[in-house]
Amino acid sequence: MQSFSTSSYLSFFFLFTTLSFVKTVLTQDGFCSAPLRIGADSNSQPLYWKVTNPTLSPSHLQDLPGFTRSVYKKDHAFITPESQVFSPLPDWTNTLGAYLITPAIGSHFVMYLAKMQENSKSGLPPSDVERFIFVVQGSAVLINISGNVHKLKVDSYAYLPPNLDHTVETDAAATLIVFERRYSGLENHVTEQIVGSTDKQTLLETPGEIFELRKLLPTSLAYDFNIHS
Ligand SMILES: *[C@@H]1O[C@H](CO)[C@@H](O)[C@H](O)[C@H]1NC(C)=O
Repeated sequence: MQSFSTSSYLSFFFLFTTLSFVKTVLTQDGFCSAPLRIGADSNSQPLYWKVTNPTLSPSHLQDLPGFTRSVYKKDHAFITPESQVFSPLPDWTNTLGAYLITPAIGSHFVMYLAKMQENSKSGLPPSDVERFIFVVQGSAVLINISGNVHKLKVDSYAYLPPNLDHTVETDAAATLIVFERRYSGLENHVTEQIVGSTDKQTLLETPGEIFELRKLLPTSLAYDFNIHS
């Protein structure tokens, strides 16, 4: 970012609840979303079940051809499961992708679901583009140019700095959420590969809120965005 002030710090805020109803709001400062936690029978299905197995709509009366809750506006879009279109991801092997947010609608980043099948492999983002991946189903292996291997399970994530050669590979089916963004670097600040899982991050104080909040990336200047979970 050009400015150092925290108010212009771009922040992505993403949360997936048992209902996977993610309400997105684009503010001047960035993109954020808040969950609705309604009568969760959360224990009967795997975590993020609704992300990988979306139903058409909460009310079957609305499951009519052409019905969608997706919203496309000048400054934001909210693409709901019934509007997701999966097609092969270019440069990836055996992987289908569905774009949820793209620069075409004016955002500064892309967000897509990558459904990796058996023996699949990721492609690289364009040059100078940083990548953040989050595993919502299955598991994947991250290998970087130095040959370091990390196993990523559900709730694990990785930040890959721009131009860091890496692959994400799976033997069996896995689903990732991927964010990619053209890095806006500052001189003398560089980002590094980060691998973590949400449960290892400290809970931040959010008095009066029903959600739990964690920052998944450092807040130092080098990182030009953050992911809140
Ligand atoms: C590859 O991953 C290892 C361990 O996660 C990390 O220490 C190393 O810096 C990474 N390589 C590059 C070129 O970033």
